[in-house]
Amino acid sequence: MSSDGFSGEPPPGAAADWTIDQGWDAYTAAEHAVWDALYERQAALLPGRACDEFLHGLDALNLHRGGIPDFRQINVDLQRLTGWTVVAVPGLVPDDVFFKHLANRRFPAGQFIRRADQLDYLQEPDIFHDVFGHVPMLTDPVFADYMQAYGEGGRRALGLGQLHNLARLYWYTVEFGLLETPAGPRIYGAGIVSSRTESLFALDDPSPNRIGFDLERLMRTLYRIDDFQQVYFVVPSLRALLDATLQDFAPIYRRLEGAADIAIDAVLPGDRVFSRGTQAYASGRG
Ligand SMILES: [Fe+2]
Repeated sequence: MSSDGFSGEPPPGAAADWTIDQGWDAYTAAEHAVWDALYERQAALLPGRACDEFLHGLDALNLHRGGIPDFRQINVDLQRLTGWTVVAVPGLVPDDVFFKHLANRRFPAGQFIRRADQLDYLQEPDIFHDVFGHVPMLTDPVFADYMQAYGEGGRRALGLGQLHNLARLYWYTVEFGLLETPAGPRIYGAGIVSSRTESLFALDDPSPNRIGFDLERLMRTLYRIDDFQQVYFVVPSLRALLDATLQDFAPIYRRLEGAADIAIDAVLPGDRVFSRGTQAYASGRG
Protein backbone atom coordinates (compact mmCIF):
# COMPACT_ATOMS: atom_id res chain seq x y z
CA MET A 1 0.00 0.00 0.00
CA SER A 2 1.37 3.39 -0.94
CA SER A 3 1.69 6.23 1.52
CA ASP A 4 -1.55 7.93 0.47
CA GLY A 5 -3.67 4.85 1.09
CA PHE A 6 -3.90 3.32 -2.41
CA SER A 7 -2.97 -0.33 -2.79
CA GLY A 8 -1.09 -1.80 -5.68
CA GLU A 9 1.15 -0.17 -8.18
CA PRO A 10 -0.47 2.12 -10.72
CA PRO A 11 0.63 1.51 -14.30
CA PRO A 12 3.53 3.56 -15.67
CA GLY A 13 2.46 7.12 -16.37
CA ALA A 14 -0.46 7.08 -13.89
CA ALA A 15 -0.47 9.02 -10.62
CA ALA A 16 -0.56 7.27 -7.22
CA ASP A 17 -4.37 7.46 -7.32
CA TRP A 18 -4.29 5.79 -10.77
CA THR A 19 -5.46 8.91 -12.59
CA ILE A 20 -4.00 9.97 -15.91
CA ASP A 21 -4.42 12.97 -18.15
CA GLN A 22 -7.37 12.52 -20.48
CA GLY A 23 -5.20 13.59 -23.40
CA TRP A 24 -8.15 15.21 -25.09
CA ASP A 25 -6.05 16.93 -27.76
CA ALA A 26 -4.84 13.55 -29.00
CA TYR A 27 -8.26 12.18 -30.03
CA THR A 28 -8.52 11.73 -33.78
CA ALA A 29 -11.37 12.90 -36.00
CA ALA A 30 -12.37 9.24 -36.42
CA GLU A 31 -12.59 8.82 -32.62
CA HIS A 32 -14.75 11.92 -32.27
CA ALA A 33 -16.94 10.53 -35.06
CA VAL A 34 -17.46 7.28 -33.13
CA TRP A 35 -18.64 9.30 -30.13
CA ASP A 36 -20.99 11.33 -32.32
CA ALA A 37 -22.47 8.21 -33.93
CA LEU A 38 -23.13 6.64 -30.53
CA TYR A 39 -24.39 9.90 -29.09
CA GLU A 40 -26.84 10.65 -31.86
CA ARG A 41 -28.25 7.15 -31.74
CA GLN A 42 -28.86 7.24 -27.99
CA ALA A 43 -30.06 10.85 -27.90
CA ALA A 44 -32.76 9.92 -30.41
CA LEU A 45 -33.75 6.76 -28.56
CA LEU A 46 -33.76 7.88 -24.92
CA PRO A 47 -36.47 10.55 -24.61
CA GLY A 48 -39.43 8.69 -23.09
CA ARG A 49 -37.11 5.86 -22.01
CA ALA A 50 -34.42 7.41 -19.82
CA CYS A 51 -35.54 9.17 -16.64
CA ASP A 52 -35.81 12.96 -16.61
CA GLU A 53 -32.79 13.26 -14.31
CA PHE A 54 -30.58 11.61 -16.93
CA LEU A 55 -31.94 13.70 -19.81
CA HIS A 56 -31.52 16.90 -17.78
CA GLY A 57 -27.94 15.85 -17.08
CA LEU A 58 -27.16 15.70 -20.80
CA ASP A 59 -28.34 19.30 -21.08
CA ALA A 60 -26.67 20.50 -17.88
CA LEU A 61 -23.30 19.23 -19.11
CA ASN A 62 -23.92 20.49 -22.63
CA LEU A 63 -23.10 17.04 -23.96
CA HIS A 64 -24.96 17.92 -27.16
CA ARG A 65 -22.03 20.04 -28.35
CA GLY A 66 -20.53 17.13 -30.29
CA GLY A 67 -17.29 15.19 -30.14
CA ILE A 68 -15.70 13.37 -27.22
CA PRO A 69 -16.20 15.57 -24.14
CA ASP A 70 -13.20 17.33 -22.67
CA PHE A 71 -13.20 16.53 -18.93
CA ARG A 72 -11.83 20.01 -18.21
CA GLN A 73 -15.01 21.44 -19.74
CA ILE A 74 -17.64 19.15 -18.24
CA ASN A 75 -16.00 19.33 -14.82
CA VAL A 76 -16.72 23.06 -14.62
CA ASP A 77 -20.46 22.38 -14.75
CA LEU A 78 -20.38 19.12 -12.81
CA GLN A 79 -18.38 20.63 -9.96
CA ARG A 80 -20.72 23.61 -9.77
CA LEU A 81 -23.84 21.41 -9.75
CA THR A 82 -22.94 18.67 -7.28
CA GLY A 83 -19.24 18.91 -6.42
CA TRP A 84 -18.36 15.85 -8.52
CA THR A 85 -15.56 15.64 -11.07
CA VAL A 86 -14.65 13.07 -13.73
CA VAL A 87 -11.08 11.78 -13.68
CA ALA A 88 -9.42 9.70 -16.39
CA VAL A 89 -8.01 6.28 -15.50
CA PRO A 90 -6.20 3.73 -17.69
CA GLY A 91 -8.99 1.10 -17.60
CA LEU A 92 -10.37 -0.85 -14.67
CA VAL A 93 -8.84 0.11 -11.32
CA PRO A 94 -8.57 -1.91 -8.08
CA ASP A 95 -11.66 -1.87 -5.86
CA ASP A 96 -10.10 0.21 -3.09
CA VAL A 97 -8.96 2.82 -5.59
CA PHE A 98 -12.40 2.95 -7.17
CA PHE A 99 -14.21 3.29 -3.84
CA LYS A 100 -11.85 6.00 -2.61
CA HIS A 101 -12.53 8.08 -5.71
CA LEU A 102 -16.31 7.70 -5.35
CA ALA A 103 -16.18 8.52 -1.64
CA ASN A 104 -14.43 11.77 -2.63
CA ARG A 105 -16.94 12.56 -5.39
CA ARG A 106 -14.60 11.70 -8.24
CA PHE A 107 -15.83 9.39 -11.00
CA PRO A 108 -13.05 7.34 -12.65
CA ALA A 109 -13.66 7.11 -16.39
CA GLY A 110 -11.96 5.22 -19.17
CA GLN A 111 -10.14 7.49 -21.60
CA PHE A 112 -10.24 5.33 -24.75
CA ILE A 113 -13.16 4.97 -27.16
CA ARG A 114 -14.31 1.84 -28.94
CA ARG A 115 -13.72 1.30 -32.65
CA ALA A 116 -16.34 2.10 -35.26
CA ASP A 117 -17.03 -1.65 -35.70
CA GLN A 118 -17.79 -2.04 -31.95
CA LEU A 119 -20.75 0.32 -31.59
CA ASP A 120 -23.01 -2.36 -30.15
CA TYR A 121 -20.80 -4.35 -27.85
CA LEU A 122 -17.66 -3.81 -25.88
CA GLN A 123 -16.37 -5.89 -22.98
CA GLU A 124 -14.41 -3.20 -21.17
CA PRO A 125 -16.09 0.13 -20.38
CA ASP A 126 -14.90 2.90 -22.67
CA ILE A 127 -15.40 6.65 -22.44
CA PHE A 128 -18.83 6.44 -24.03
CA HIS A 129 -20.08 4.01 -21.42
CA ASP A 130 -18.38 5.85 -18.57
CA VAL A 131 -19.15 9.44 -19.53
CA PHE A 132 -22.40 9.24 -21.49
CA GLY A 133 -23.70 6.42 -19.30
CA HIS A 134 -22.65 7.50 -15.82
CA VAL A 135 -21.91 11.20 -15.67
CA PRO A 136 -25.33 12.75 -16.50
CA MET A 137 -26.85 11.16 -13.37
CA LEU A 138 -24.08 12.74 -11.28
CA THR A 139 -25.64 16.15 -11.99
CA ASP A 140 -28.64 15.09 -9.87
CA PRO A 141 -28.00 16.04 -6.21
CA VAL A 142 -29.67 12.93 -4.77
CA PHE A 143 -27.96 10.47 -7.10
CA ALA A 144 -24.68 12.32 -6.54
CA ASP A 145 -25.03 11.65 -2.80
CA TYR A 146 -25.95 8.02 -3.51
CA MET A 147 -22.75 7.44 -5.49
CA GLN A 148 -20.65 8.94 -2.72
CA ALA A 149 -22.48 6.81 -0.15
CA TYR A 150 -21.81 3.75 -2.30
CA GLY A 151 -18.10 4.55 -2.35
CA GLU A 152 -18.06 4.88 1.43
CA GLY A 153 -20.03 1.65 1.74
CA GLY A 154 -17.57 -0.03 -0.59
CA ARG A 155 -14.66 0.87 1.64
CA ARG A 156 -16.47 -0.57 4.66
CA ALA A 157 -17.51 -3.71 2.74
CA LEU A 158 -13.91 -4.34 1.72
CA GLY A 159 -12.93 -4.27 5.38
CA LEU A 160 -15.75 -6.68 6.24
CA GLY A 161 -15.10 -9.04 3.31
CA GLN A 162 -18.63 -8.44 1.96
CA LEU A 163 -17.90 -7.03 -1.43
CA HIS A 164 -19.81 -9.73 -3.34
CA ASN A 165 -23.10 -8.56 -1.80
CA LEU A 166 -22.39 -4.87 -2.27
CA ALA A 167 -21.26 -5.34 -5.86
CA ARG A 168 -24.77 -6.57 -6.67
CA LEU A 169 -26.16 -3.24 -5.47
CA TYR A 170 -23.93 -1.38 -7.92
CA TRP A 171 -24.81 -3.76 -10.70
CA TYR A 172 -28.58 -3.60 -10.28
CA THR A 173 -28.76 0.15 -9.63
CA VAL A 174 -25.86 2.18 -11.03
CA GLU A 175 -25.45 -0.07 -14.07
CA PHE A 176 -28.88 -1.60 -14.71
CA GLY A 177 -31.38 0.30 -12.59
CA LEU A 178 -34.89 1.38 -13.52
CA LEU A 179 -36.79 4.22 -11.85
CA GLU A 180 -40.54 4.19 -11.24
CA THR A 181 -42.30 7.26 -12.66
CA PRO A 182 -46.00 8.13 -13.21
CA ALA A 183 -45.45 7.24 -16.88
CA GLY A 184 -43.98 3.82 -16.05
CA PRO A 185 -40.43 2.55 -15.44
CA ARG A 186 -37.64 4.69 -16.88
CA ILE A 187 -33.95 3.91 -17.27
CA TYR A 188 -31.22 5.42 -15.11
CA GLY A 189 -28.61 2.62 -15.21
CA ALA A 190 -25.47 3.43 -17.19
CA GLY A 191 -25.20 -0.04 -18.71
CA ILE A 192 -28.63 0.42 -20.24
CA VAL A 193 -28.57 4.06 -21.38
CA SER A 194 -25.23 3.58 -23.10
CA SER A 195 -26.49 0.54 -25.06
CA ARG A 196 -28.96 0.82 -27.91
CA THR A 197 -30.07 -2.79 -27.70
CA GLU A 198 -30.46 -2.90 -23.92
CA SER A 199 -32.31 0.46 -23.92
CA LEU A 200 -34.97 -1.36 -25.94
CA PHE A 201 -34.76 -4.71 -24.16
CA ALA A 202 -34.88 -3.37 -20.59
CA LEU A 203 -38.20 -1.58 -21.06
CA ASP A 204 -39.98 -3.37 -23.92
CA ASP A 205 -38.93 -7.01 -24.09
CA PRO A 206 -41.29 -9.54 -22.44
CA SER A 207 -38.37 -11.72 -21.31
CA PRO A 208 -36.94 -10.15 -18.13
CA ASN A 209 -38.59 -9.80 -14.75
CA ARG A 210 -39.05 -6.23 -13.51
CA ILE A 211 -39.29 -6.20 -9.75
CA GLY A 212 -39.58 -3.50 -7.11
CA PHE A 213 -36.34 -2.54 -5.36
CA ASP A 214 -35.74 -4.30 -2.05
CA LEU A 215 -32.20 -3.92 -0.77
CA GLU A 216 -31.71 -7.30 0.88
CA ARG A 217 -33.53 -9.20 -1.84
CA LEU A 218 -31.37 -7.49 -4.45
CA MET A 219 -28.14 -8.18 -2.56
CA ARG A 220 -28.96 -11.89 -2.58
CA THR A 221 -29.66 -12.00 -6.32
CA LEU A 222 -27.13 -13.39 -8.78
CA TYR A 223 -26.41 -11.43 -11.95
CA ARG A 224 -24.91 -11.97 -15.37
CA ILE A 225 -22.23 -9.82 -16.87
CA ASP A 226 -22.20 -11.19 -20.41
CA ASP A 227 -25.67 -10.58 -21.79
CA PHE A 228 -28.96 -8.76 -21.23
CA GLN A 229 -30.23 -8.91 -17.66
CA GLN A 230 -32.88 -11.44 -16.65
CA VAL A 231 -34.17 -9.17 -13.89
CA TYR A 232 -34.29 -5.41 -13.48
CA PHE A 233 -35.02 -3.75 -10.14
CA VAL A 234 -37.26 -0.67 -10.15
CA VAL A 235 -36.57 1.95 -7.45
CA PRO A 236 -39.58 4.03 -6.30
CA SER A 237 -37.42 7.17 -6.25
CA LEU A 238 -33.77 8.15 -6.21
CA ARG A 239 -34.32 9.40 -2.66
CA ALA A 240 -35.47 5.92 -1.60
CA LEU A 241 -32.30 4.48 -3.14
CA LEU A 242 -30.13 6.95 -1.25
CA ASP A 243 -31.98 6.40 2.02
CA ALA A 244 -31.61 2.61 1.74
CA THR A 245 -27.88 3.05 1.24
CA LEU A 246 -27.34 5.42 4.17
CA GLN A 247 -28.26 2.75 6.74
CA ASP A 248 -25.62 0.63 8.44
CA PHE A 249 -25.07 -2.44 6.24
CA ALA A 250 -23.27 -4.47 8.92
CA PRO A 251 -26.48 -6.10 10.28
CA ILE A 252 -27.60 -6.77 6.71
CA TYR A 253 -24.32 -8.50 5.92
CA ARG A 254 -24.74 -10.64 9.04
CA ARG A 255 -28.20 -11.73 7.89
CA LEU A 256 -26.97 -12.39 4.36
CA GLU A 257 -24.25 -14.72 5.68
CA GLY A 258 -26.89 -17.34 6.35
CA ALA A 259 -29.12 -16.61 3.37
CA ALA A 260 -28.95 -18.51 0.09
CA ASP A 261 -28.43 -16.68 -3.18
CA ILE A 262 -31.56 -16.02 -5.22
CA ALA A 263 -31.69 -17.35 -8.76
CA ILE A 264 -31.45 -14.74 -11.47
CA ASP A 265 -34.89 -15.55 -12.89
CA ALA A 266 -36.77 -16.06 -9.61
CA VAL A 267 -39.97 -14.27 -8.67
CA LEU A 268 -40.59 -14.53 -4.92
CA PRO A 269 -43.89 -14.29 -3.03
CA GLY A 270 -42.86 -10.95 -1.46
CA ASP A 271 -41.76 -9.34 -4.72
CA ARG A 272 -43.54 -6.29 -6.05
CA VAL A 273 -43.82 -7.40 -9.65
CA PHE A 274 -43.92 -4.72 -12.36
CA SER A 275 -43.79 -7.39 -15.05
CA ARG A 276 -43.22 -11.11 -14.84
CA GLY A 277 -40.85 -12.11 -17.59
CA THR A 278 -41.16 -15.04 -19.94
CA GLN A 279 -37.34 -15.52 -19.82
CA ALA A 280 -37.67 -16.46 -23.49
CA TYR A 281 -34.56 -14.49 -24.45
CA ALA A 282 -32.33 -16.20 -21.86
CA SER A 283 -33.84 -19.64 -22.64
CA GLY A 284 -33.11 -19.13 -26.32
CA ARG A 285 -29.47 -18.37 -25.57
CA GLY A 286 -29.07 -21.56 -23.55
FE1 LIG B 1 -20.29 1.34 -15.73
